[in-house]
Amino acid sequence: MARKVTKAIFPVAGLGTRFLPATKSVPKEIMTLVDRPLVQYAIDEARAAGITEFIFVTSRGKSALEDYFDHNPILEQELRAKGKNDLLETLEATNMESGATAYIRQYKALGLGHAVWCARRLIGDEPFAVMLPDDVIAADKPCLQQMVEAYEETGGNMVAAMEVPFDKTSAYGILDVAENSGDVIRVRGMVEKPKAEEAPSNLAVIGRYILGPSVLYNLNQKRKGSGGEIQLTDAIAEDISNGVPVFGYRFDGTRFDCGSKAGFLQATVSFALARDDLRDDLSQYLHSVIATDRAAQ
Ligand code: G1P
Repeated sequence: MARKVTKAIFPVAGLGTRFLPATKSVPKEIMTLVDRPLVQYAIDEARAAGITEFIFVTSRGKSALEDYFDHNPILEQELRAKGKNDLLETLEATNMESGATAYIRQYKALGLGHAVWCARRLIGDEPFAVMLPDDVIAADKPCLQQMVEAYEETGGNMVAAMEVPFDKTSAYGILDVAENSGDVIRVRGMVEKPKAEEAPSNLAVIGRYILGPSVLYNLNQKRKGSGGEIQLTDAIAEDISNGVPVFGYRFDGTRFDCGSKAGFLQATVSFALARDDLRDDLSQYLHSVIATDRAAQ
C-alpha cells in the first residue's frame, strides 16, 4: 500500500503578468473569487485530502501571501464581542497551525519543475502533492481527495487529467495513454505543451499531482524542456523509463483556469451562483444583461 501523503507544495512564485496592473502589488493567489483568495480554495482542498504540511514556493513581492496566513486576534476578538459568529467561524477556518506552513524562495524563474525542486529538502524521502492554485476545481468530493483515494491503490505517480480540445494541447502537459480504462489511466509518456499535430492525445494534465521523491531526483538533472524551462512534466515522464508507473486520474468536477481572465470570471460567476446569499440577485442580473445584449443585436 502507498505511503500516506501529508505534504503539499504550492508553486506561487509566478509574476501573474496576465493580471497586471492588479498584480503590481497584489499576489495573484490573493485575488478573490467572490470573497476568498484563490489560494484558500487550494488550501481547503489540500486539507480535505489529509495534507498537514503546506509548502509555498514564493518569490519577491509575495509577502502579502505570507501575511494572509497570520492569525488576526484583534479582528477575532472584535467579531466575538459583536456576536458575529458566522464571520468568526469563516475567519477561524482559514487559520493555519503554527509550523504547518513553510516558505521557500525560488530565486530564479526557471520553470515549474525547478519551483518544485526548490522544496526538495522539506519533502525528503516521501510522496507529496503539488497543487497549482490557478487551477480551481469545483467538485462534490475535492479533487485531491479523489486522487489520494485512487493513489492508495496505485502508488507510483499520479496527475489529474482532463480532456481538452486538440487546438488547446499547446497550453498543457499531454498524456500518452497506454491503457485507458475508467478513471485511472496508465500513462506511457508525457509531453509538455505539444502542438495539436504532435499531441499523443487530448488528455491534459491539470494542476494536481501526487508524486514520489524519485521525481525530485530526476529534477536534480535540471534538464531544460519546453520553452527553455525545467518542466515538471519531463521529470515525471522520466520516471516511466525508470520503471515507476505514472497514472492520469480523470477527476469528477469542473476545472476553472484562473490563470486567465476569462477563466477567473467564469469561476467567479459559478462560485457566486453556488452561494445561497448571492444566487438570486446575481442570476436575475445575469438574465437581464443577456436579454439587453440580445435585444441590442
Ligand atoms: C502547467 C504545467 C502543465 C499543466 C498546466 C495545468 O503549465 O506545466 O503541464 O498542464 O500547468 O494548468 P502552465 O499553465 O503553468 O503553463
